[in-house]
Amino acid sequence: MIQAVRGTRDIYGREMVLWSEIEQVFQRVCTRFCYTEFRTPILEKTELFKRGVGEATDIVGKEMYTFEDRGGESITLRPEMTAPIVRAAIEHNLLHHSPTTRLWYNASLFRYERPQAGRYRQFQQLGAELLGSAHPESDVEVIALAYQTLIECGVRDCVLEINTLGNTASRLAYKSTLVEYLEKHRETLSEDSQRRILTNPLRVLDSKSTQDQMVIADAPKLAEMLDQDSKEHFEAVQFLLNSAGIPFVVNNRLVRGLDYYTHTVFEFTTSSLGTQNALGGGGRYDPLFAMIGGSATPAVGFSLGADRIALLLEKERGGFPETPVPDVYIVASHDNARLPAQVIALRLRTNGFSVLVDLQRRSAKGQSKEAQNSKSKAVVTLSETDIANGTCSVRKVDKPEEHAVQQSTLENFLRA
Ligand code: HAM
Repeated sequence: MIQAVRGTRDIYGREMVLWSEIEQVFQRVCTRFCYTEFRTPILEKTELFKRGVGEATDIVGKEMYTFEDRGGESITLRPEMTAPIVRAAIEHNLLHHSPTTRLWYNASLFRYERPQAGRYRQFQQLGAELLGSAHPESDVEVIALAYQTLIECGVRDCVLEINTLGNTASRLAYKSTLVEYLEKHRETLSEDSQRRILTNPLRVLDSKSTQDQMVIADAPKLAEMLDQDSKEHFEAVQFLLNSAGIPFVVNNRLVRGLDYYTHTVFEFTTSSLGTQNALGGGGRYDPLFAMIGGSATPAVGFSLGADRIALLLEKERGGFPETPVPDVYIVASHDNARLPAQVIALRLRTNGFSVLVDLQRRSAKGQSKEAQNSKSKAVVTLSETDIANGTCSVRKVDKPEEHAVQQSTLENFLRA
């Protein structure tokens, strides 16, 4: 038997009902914030992620699905959406037409990670990117959009953590102080962290290794090295979040795993999903446009992990939602009624009803049983005499009695 590729999953049935609900909430909230949908190809040139996400990151270093196509070009299945969105914004000169461009996406991403609950090799992100504003109010706009989505999905166990990496100048100054400090403690650090001192020192702060914790605890703090501009930006973000009633905690250790961030970074975390505790994350990425060959353009955004939101909601609600029930099930109680039953089904569907009709040529009894199982709100039965008289009989679930109804007025009767 051929099975799905490791780390990938089929989503169907009641689980899919939950997914649709989450996606619809996101789309609805995005519309209220006046973000428009953007779709990019699943395939991108490998160079985009090497330059945009950063060669030293885990994503580019270890996790990309990269291959040479038949023309000899190096292609990658997108591992994230921010670089593709920025690539597209540059390619289509979007900012020229709209200096503040608000976009959202619902996209499949691919990362070759070790699969476990909440971590897959193909997963889905619901994200938004706000291109063209350097101001803290735009950071808060995207955070509010993510927060509102989680609230309207009904997520309960979730905390917003925020931090600042400062502007490029602050970050560079901090980086060299940090490297100096880490070098002094190199011997104590885990192998991974030793490697990161040169490649990605900020990520050492993020390390979960117990061996690294002591060193990290005494490391110089970025917050203490911020310049005035960076401090003011972060204070404004906190002021706005407080004013908007969006609860948050400041986590000075939050650095995020991608190279393009400056100023605000944030993550929505939960304590209900074990180690895969990030429901989503994002931040400001002012350097990214220039990193991939565009002119410097400030931007901020986030992505929520739909797989993890679905896992959390299933856990918090104690199961998946019920599948929606049909409005009508049509029973053909005689062979001659089968085709007319199909015709009525098609007519009712055209007129807005959800309708089930038997396609296995079951007996009348078999159809009635299926009608019951389907939990349809009404059962319409067509007998041989009904065919002759242009009638049918209708029983609504909330009412025990059966009514004889003219086929021509069936829609009105069902709506009443
Ligand atoms: P990220 O933190 O790599 O950020 O991913 C965002 C979210 O995607 C995570 O918090 C998690 O919920 C979900 N996710 C990531 N990897 C997996 C996986 N293997 N399985 C299931 N879910 C996963 C980004 O991708 C940035 N592009 C976010 C961003 C947008 N920054 C600015 N704009």
